[in-house]
Amino acid sequence: MKTTKLEKYRPALHFAPQQNWMNDPNGLVFFKGEYHLFFQHNPNDSVWGPMHWGHAVSKDMIEWEQLDIALSPDEHGTIFSGSVVVDWHNTSGFFQDEPGLVAIFTHHFDGANHTETKQMQSLAYSSDQGRTWVKYENNPVLTHATKIDFRDPKVFWHEATHKWIMVLATGQTISIYSSPNLKDWSFESEFGEKVGSHDGVWECPDLFELPIENSNEKKWVLLVSIGDNHKFDSGSRTQYFIGSFDGHTFVEEHDDIKWLDFGKDNYAGVSFSDIPKEDGRRIYLGWMSNWRYANQVPTKGWRSQMTLPRVLSLIETDEDIRIVQKVVKELDSYFTKKEELADVIVSTDANYYNVNAEYAEIDLGLENINATQYGLTIHHTTTQYTTITVDAKEKTLVLERKHSGEVDFSDNFPKQQVVKLSKTDELQLRLIVDSSSLELFLNGGEQAITSLVYPDKACEGVSLFTTEGEIKVVHGKLSIPSKN
Ligand code: FRU
Repeated sequence: MKTTKLEKYRPALHFAPQQNWMNDPNGLVFFKGEYHLFFQHNPNDSVWGPMHWGHAVSKDMIEWEQLDIALSPDEHGTIFSGSVVVDWHNTSGFFQDEPGLVAIFTHHFDGANHTETKQMQSLAYSSDQGRTWVKYENNPVLTHATKIDFRDPKVFWHEATHKWIMVLATGQTISIYSSPNLKDWSFESEFGEKVGSHDGVWECPDLFELPIENSNEKKWVLLVSIGDNHKFDSGSRTQYFIGSFDGHTFVEEHDDIKWLDFGKDNYAGVSFSDIPKEDGRRIYLGWMSNWRYANQVPTKGWRSQMTLPRVLSLIETDEDIRIVQKVVKELDSYFTKKEELADVIVSTDANYYNVNAEYAEIDLGLENINATQYGLTIHHTTTQYTTITVDAKEKTLVLERKHSGEVDFSDNFPKQQVVKLSKTDELQLRLIVDSSSLELFLNGGEQAITSLVYPDKACEGVSLFTTEGEIKVVHGKLSIPSKN
């Protein structure tokens, strides 16, 4: 987020709240030329607390303007995660002349001493492009007699059955409901009891259809975030399923567990609703943090930021069908080329490139000649750095942030982030460095590592290295801020 306040760690390219606490992105929707980002927000403290929906708007999903709080707690409880849709045909009856926005969110009610915790789905609507909201008088619209974890509704219009579909996190399953009018919901099916990872509570689902690149085929994708479990080092993370959906039931078409991101800091992400058909993109945004240490990260007066918006599609590789993520093209105008690299040989001497910028991008096409390990170091300052190392024998890529700046606010934070690679003789790598984050995309976005870092400065320089042998930079580009 562009800001004139140069507070330590405040991102230049990512949305962060002006003040206080933020977690999940909520109600991502495009309407009348604006992208809306609502978000889980505690406006009174920079740690998690009674949840509200904060609100920001943008024309390009990079530069955001934060607006007034959209939804505040009421007699039904605090406002947990949910979604927003454009009710184009006034199925809800909330609107008179013009289509408006409907928010479908979870009311979280905590009785005295948390004895009576209840989660239920409620509605609010807006006729002025999300600036003001009216809560529906008959809230809640969906309750459950026994389920306590019953939250995070993501709603979309299902063309084929002509109904609204809601996917909802229900413990360690996803429940699917349908409705003609957003007010009356019928149970359709429950997914996931015996598949996927059950390392933690399931949260923030999203269900949508994606094209498979270079084919005429499409598949349905179900995103499911999984909460933290202290038995594992990973903290909270996001898995996804690929399969079919007929308006009633989602059926997955694989047995393996698929992770959306191999970094620690991409959680509770969902996609924008109502992107115009002529645009056609499915755009995703995640919360760039991890429940393991989100409340401890060393920012002052504000906490958390979102990932960059990413376009999702599917590709078929030799191994499987998987999601590919590419940062939206709107980011391109924020960069200008500083240096082009072509046919450069890198050996154990390391090649250093000066960057000295508030944010930077590195694009590399690498060929491994005979190195056992190779990679790049992001020199935040002369003493603070992050390394990205490919190990040809182990077939891994490791992001090491233990020297990246402040790390000791959590035991878990300095631990390595590792991704298994199918091959290491060639590697495409795109890295976006902001004041307090690194977003790494491998082979055109087939794998991603999203990682927070807390250095004194974003990027002084970048070096390429091998520990033994040589690699070749077939093509490469180093970019720095344009005068945007
Ligand atoms: C995910 C989550 C959601 C919930 C919200 C509360 O990070 O736990 O399940 O609605 O955060 O802030």
